[in-house]
Amino acid sequence: MNRHAPGIARQVAVLSLAGILTLGATSAFAEDEPFGPVKALETKPALVELGKRLFYDPRLSGDTSLSCSSCHQPDKAFTDGEALSIAYTGSLHFRNTPTLANVGHRKAWFHDGRLGTNLNDVTRESITETYFMNMDMRIMQERLKQDPVYVEMFEAAGKGEPSNGGARSAIQEFLKSITSSGAPFDTGDMSDSANAGFELFKGKAGCAACHTGPRFTDDQPHNIGVPENPEIWSDPERHVAFVTYAKFMGVENYMNLRRDLGAFVRDHRQESAGKFMTPTLRELTYTAPYMHNGMLATLEDVVDFYNAGGGNAANKDIRVRPLNLTDEEKTQLVDFLKSLSGNSFDVPSYNPGEIDTDYPLIADWRNQTN
Ligand code: HEC
Ligand code: HEC
Repeated sequence: MNRHAPGIARQVAVLSLAGILTLGATSAFAEDEPFGPVKALETKPALVELGKRLFYDPRLSGDTSLSCSSCHQPDKAFTDGEALSIAYTGSLHFRNTPTLANVGHRKAWFHDGRLGTNLNDVTRESITETYFMNMDMRIMQERLKQDPVYVEMFEAAGKGEPSNGGARSAIQEFLKSITSSGAPFDTGDMSDSANAGFELFKGKAGCAACHTGPRFTDDQPHNIGVPENPEIWSDPERHVAFVTYAKFMGVENYMNLRRDLGAFVRDHRQESAGKFMTPTLRELTYTAPYMHNGMLATLEDVVDFYNAGGGNAANKDIRVRPLNLTDEEKTQLVDFLKSLSGNSFDVPSYNPGEIDTDYPLIADWRNQTN
């Protein structure tokens, strides 16, 4: 216990400093934007269209079994409704598929925040990583060049002939175009109960300490003590993906590890273990189940979890503590969370399954394996 004492003392010091700053005119979190609608990012329409077709195209995975949209489904705000995601043939994923709503505004990506530079890295890893789409970029480029529709679309988007760099920049452009709109919170159509929930969110329940700004996230990792999902270790197909990841991230003793260390992989510091990125609270109505490993099924479960003071973790964030909310207050908080979900996202007019995969490379491959 003593080992943690200095850390807690530091956090208390930071908190009281924040308190002093709040007393002054400026916000304690000066860099945070105020609550409000999410701003649409500027995008180039022809590049977005190209990125969108690529996003729905299973030819971007090694064996053409998966497109980005297999896991990021537009009618579920680009999640998949599963606690833990599927993955490339022969494996299953060890994380919950996050929403892509407003993902272009994020400062670091993936639940552990391990990619902190830009969406290009995220897109590259999603395509090439063995447990995502297991695709060789050079083969991807050849596949795209054989499709006359892509040849035209790359040209129209100003990217010349199909290339893997061009494909990545188009997918990023599509990701940047996914913006939340029309939520009751933005349109002013909130119920009295949801309004009361917003007051609790900012006040008694303390949620706004981490869920700030238009997207309701500080883009930082915190430890709130979500329990492990045992399926990651009991299911060999999930475990193989987890081991691949932990080994690649340089985690020691990865074969015996029975814990998702989260943001530990960013800096290999013990105090980062168990921290996960604060997710956006936009579109929650469509994105159940919740948390990095899908361990909480409903928004009622989430509010009960926080009301009980979060989970059990030695280095849990001190701002997650028992809240003593009444049943009415819990309902109000859930109503508020629901008011952050807006218009559904654009589903492509073509059926993604109808993208022609019968071109020579794929046909050859199918003949060889069948
Ligand atoms: C097999 C399922 C699957 C496929 C296919 C997939 N993803 Fe994901 N995606 C996930 C999961 C799971 C995560 C979280 C990974 C983690 O935290 O380690 C994720 C994370 C992301 C993120 C980061 C979101 C955030 O808020 O941090 C982006 C962006 C993303 N995916 C885009 C894509 C794109 C673009 C493609 C296609 C090129 C793609 N994904 C293909 C399952 C998938
Ligand atoms: C100390 C920072 C912090 C505080 C305070 C906090 N949260 Fe969170 N919240 C997080 C983090 C971090 C996660 C992700 C944890 C994980 O994936 O394991 C999260 C996850 C969530 C999720 C799940 C979203 C999803 O898509 O999976 C909801 C809903 C949520 N919080 C609502 C709340 C509410 C309501 C409160 C107040 C009662 C609150 N949070 C207080 C940091 C915080």
